[in-house]
Amino acid sequence: MNDSRRVWQRNSTCGELKAGEEGRKVVLTGWVHRRRDHGHLIFIDLRDRYGITQVVFNPEISREAHALAHQVRSEYVLGAEGKVVRRAPENVNASLATGEIEVMVERAEVLNDCQPLPFTLEDQDPAGEELRLKYRFLDLRRPRLQEVLATRHRVVLATRQYLDAQGFLEIETPMLTRSTPEGSREYLVPSRVNPGHFYSLPQSPQIFKQLLMISGFDKYFQIARCFRDEDLRSDRQPEFTQIDLEMSFPEPSTVFSLIEGLIQVVFGAAGWQAVAPFPRMDYREAMDRFGSDKPDTRFALEIQDVSQRAVTTGFRVFSETVSAGGVVRALRVEGGGSWARKPIDDLVVLAQGYGSKGLVWIRLGAEAITSSNLKALGEDGCRSLAEAVGARTGDLVLLAAGERDRTSQILGAIRMHLGRSLKIIDESRPHLLWVHNFPLFEKGEDGRLAACHHPFTSPRPEDVDFLEADPVRIRALAYDLVLNGEEIGGGSIRIHRGDIQERVFRALGISPSEAEQRFGFLLQALRMGAPPHGGIALGVDRIVAILTGSPSIRDVIAFPKTNSAVDLMSGAPSLPDEKQLKDLHIRVNLPPPEKL
Ligand code: AMO
Repeated sequence: MNDSRRVWQRNSTCGELKAGEEGRKVVLTGWVHRRRDHGHLIFIDLRDRYGITQVVFNPEISREAHALAHQVRSEYVLGAEGKVVRRAPENVNASLATGEIEVMVERAEVLNDCQPLPFTLEDQDPAGEELRLKYRFLDLRRPRLQEVLATRHRVVLATRQYLDAQGFLEIETPMLTRSTPEGSREYLVPSRVNPGHFYSLPQSPQIFKQLLMISGFDKYFQIARCFRDEDLRSDRQPEFTQIDLEMSFPEPSTVFSLIEGLIQVVFGAAGWQAVAPFPRMDYREAMDRFGSDKPDTRFALEIQDVSQRAVTTGFRVFSETVSAGGVVRALRVEGGGSWARKPIDDLVVLAQGYGSKGLVWIRLGAEAITSSNLKALGEDGCRSLAEAVGARTGDLVLLAAGERDRTSQILGAIRMHLGRSLKIIDESRPHLLWVHNFPLFEKGEDGRLAACHHPFTSPRPEDVDFLEADPVRIRALAYDLVLNGEEIGGGSIRIHRGDIQERVFRALGISPSEAEQRFGFLLQALRMGAPPHGGIALGVDRIVAILTGSPSIRDVIAFPKTNSAVDLMSGAPSLPDEKQLKDLHIRVNLPPPEKL
């Protein structure tokens, strides 16, 4: 064990030695990745984050080192000194960057041993995610995760360099702060010195970056940690990182071209290419054609409106829906006319899962037309609807009727399902898209208005006058950036006038006194020479996950939390001790477990 006085200072990493360096005396340090004992010779694959080098223990070179290699096990930490030799041609390992050479060890030392591991570091080890998260420090030794975190580093570095070159200043904003309304619950932190008072962890630096514009820093950015207590899934974590930025005097198009340049360098840092400018699509068009505000444009299969044609079929469900202000919309599935009933019935069940009352289908078989509603539609009705969507013999038409956006969303979900199962998604290049002109407000189930983006988003100037009379029709100067059907960023031009901000708060049901209490400092600042301003935030975790082909953002965060917001390794969150609670004047009052 590591009892010598020697400090093992490596002069090469395990990933760089090549043919041509024969005879060089090297010192390597690393972990024992694999060990093969051939009796006379012992081979060890020594690993560090740069790669793997084969080191060879030959008793004729050093009896001592060979004896030590006998005792070494997986994941021991080893120092090895020796000479680089060229491998015989038949022993060259082409899959290894260092595969043309090996190191004949003259001296070696075990710098630390290693208990048997709960799982191997092979990518195909069957260990489940829970176990891996519990031993995250081990899982992170896997070359795949090391590469992912290196890519993440390059993405952030490229961002800083690009934004610096564009004149942006990186400015830190507080973590212990007041509520920042982004629509999620907040994490609260009790203040010991102000008993009974709590800070909020920021959902984003939104208000502070706007204040920085008012302070005259006309180009701000931050690699910002954000905290949101929301339901988690593969693309959401309770703490995550944004490339957050804000600028003064921008148009949406100023933000678009800045971000297009940024995405190009960020993609470049990960070995991808992005072609700019990115296409732009109105929110309304995205909803109507794709049934989603983050359309996956890597495949067609678009939604078509057949409301007018549907009425002429005389089918009551269709005519009643349309006369009540609803729509009939359809998908044309090329080649679906020869499908069996089972996959079609599965689609009906899927639609029901999304809240659809039903899904009408028309199968244009080579022999005959069949339909879920043949009697009501008649063959002529089926043919007419098929013709309306350009369907031919051999195709399948799926129809849904109901309220405009709901119906499109249901067909949008079926579209995504078909895209994946029919394997018609173009994976050859990234599809980037701006979706803009979102509505300013949406109506919740309780009938109250909520901000679609956040309450500081500016209405389009021509729509401002609907603020009191018809707020839901107002379009916002808001935009999202979509990559392969995932939202990777969102931003807006902000309200920079106090009077308009007050009117928006009022429309949201925030009384003047509540607005004053929660956002008084912002309202004041808006009245003290606030310039027009706007910006955006991009989700670093989501971008890196897509760029590295990782199924979840958990895979691109060094120490992530589970879907129930738990860090399985450290055991956070944990119960505080009595003394901590006493100092904070907090009493925990839990309901019985069954009511939790
Ligand atoms: P928004 O809420 O749209 O905007 O967030 C911006 C981007 O952050 C990422 N993101 C997340 N990533 C991982 N886990 C989460 N829980 C999570 N939530 C959001 C997404 C999203 O597009 N202040 C505004 C920005 C602005 O207006 O400038 C904001 O935070 O990629």
